Amino acid sequence: MSETLILTKRWPKKDPSLVGYRADGGYAGLEKSLGMEPVAIVEQVKASNLRGRGGAGFPTGLKWTFLPKDVRPRYLCINADESEPGTFKDRYICEYDPHMLLEGIAITCFALDIHLAYIYIRGEFAKQARALEKAIEEAVAAGIFGGPKLLGKADFPLEVHVVRGAGAYICGEESALMESVEGKKGYPRFKPPFPAIIGLWGKPTIINNVETLANVPWIVEHGAAAFAALGAGKTGGTRLFGVSGNVKRPGVYEKPAGYNLKKLIMEDCGGTASGRPVKAVIPGGSSSPVLRGDEIDISLEPDAIKSAGTMSGSGGVIVMDESVCMVRALARIAMFYAEESCGQCTPCRQGTPWMWKILEKIERGEGTMKDLALIEQLPGNIMGQTICALGDAAAMPVQSFVKKFRQEFVEHIEGRGCKHGETAWGVSRQAREALVGGNRH
Ligand SMILES: Cc1cc2nc3c(=O)[nH]c(=O)nc-3n(C[C@H](O)[C@H](O)[C@H](O)COP(=O)(O)O)c2cc1C
Repeated sequence: MSETLILTKRWPKKDPSLVGYRADGGYAGLEKSLGMEPVAIVEQVKASNLRGRGGAGFPTGLKWTFLPKDVRPRYLCINADESEPGTFKDRYICEYDPHMLLEGIAITCFALDIHLAYIYIRGEFAKQARALEKAIEEAVAAGIFGGPKLLGKADFPLEVHVVRGAGAYICGEESALMESVEGKKGYPRFKPPFPAIIGLWGKPTIINNVETLANVPWIVEHGAAAFAALGAGKTGGTRLFGVSGNVKRPGVYEKPAGYNLKKLIMEDCGGTASGRPVKAVIPGGSSSPVLRGDEIDISLEPDAIKSAGTMSGSGGVIVMDESVCMVRALARIAMFYAEESCGQCTPCRQGTPWMWKILEKIERGEGTMKDLALIEQLPGNIMGQTICALGDAAAMPVQSFVKKFRQEFVEHIEGRGCKHGETAWGVSRQAREALVGGNRH
């Protein structure tokens, strides 16, 4: 497999400046795209098999074609919320190579006749927001965009703004994101209509992840076929995998989209830091169904990994060795979703803290087999019953952990407690009890 690097090749330089980016050939893709018909750029992106890197893996070019032909203005939102636990890659693009993202945005806007773009960035990413703002200032001062022309050539006014969130996971969901950009509370909207039809301020809006759009300059410069060839199946290009947990060398790895999960963990990351066997792996952010250690010899390509009953989602690979208590790990994940539910839909508002409390009870050694039956049934009453997919995101880990590691849950119940003791996965018992005890919803 090719070791071509698209997204990380400039990271070691830690030089986010326009001068540095241009010295490395930056903005050549935009230059080239100005000589192309906008529709030809969309065709290139379609043919490249670029798929969304935000989680769902939707084909990017296809999404772009959903824009109604005759409605203006149209908007572009770039999703830099990156709140899915285990995911940590978009922040590095923003920090180390913001012009690569800006170039992708400029090409996308030119291709789709969009003149206003918002980069929606997670509130905690102050450093990254400043890096983006600085890069925008540099690009505007250099006449790349922001004036009446693109690169001083094509008549095409384009404004790009950074909008900072306030640290709510739900605002990464595209319709909640739009509500937040509009200055409202981040409540997801019903879909359909999808944002491409009715989005920001009721106008057609394309929403794409940071990593997704950062690929666009390379595709225009090197061609759709070259990009498609780097990947596998119906997914072109490379992907950023953020590997964390019990591995020797955690970090962000750029690998072909069809890379093998076991190879990533055992070879690139050096296996577990403890030397103990891999017990479990969450392959695509905390919402993706967990795999047992003996199930990881699989491709990370979104369609291929589906046959293993999971997804590569946002590329956040979380590795757990034999020391990890699966009940504790799941309770910690359940706590996150309970905390982040926006409260709009009853199954999610009520179901997520309920699942969390039952899991805490089992972990404390106070659970019964009735609790286990309940935790097996509850996720099914949340899945597909909510306006947005946060409900599914909360339900999927619960279903899969209990299914794959059921015996460990039974042992907690029969043994009246956890044999693992406090693990790195736990918040302190005191903090946990304060949270479980409080009425937060
Ligand atoms: C609860 C929830 C949280 C999400 N958080 C993010 C996020 O932080 N970043 C992101 O790019 N997509 C996130 N998504 C997916 C977005 O809704 C959307 O599908 C994505 O930004 C589209 O971009 P893409 O097609 O380029 O992947 C989230 C979805 C849900 C349901």
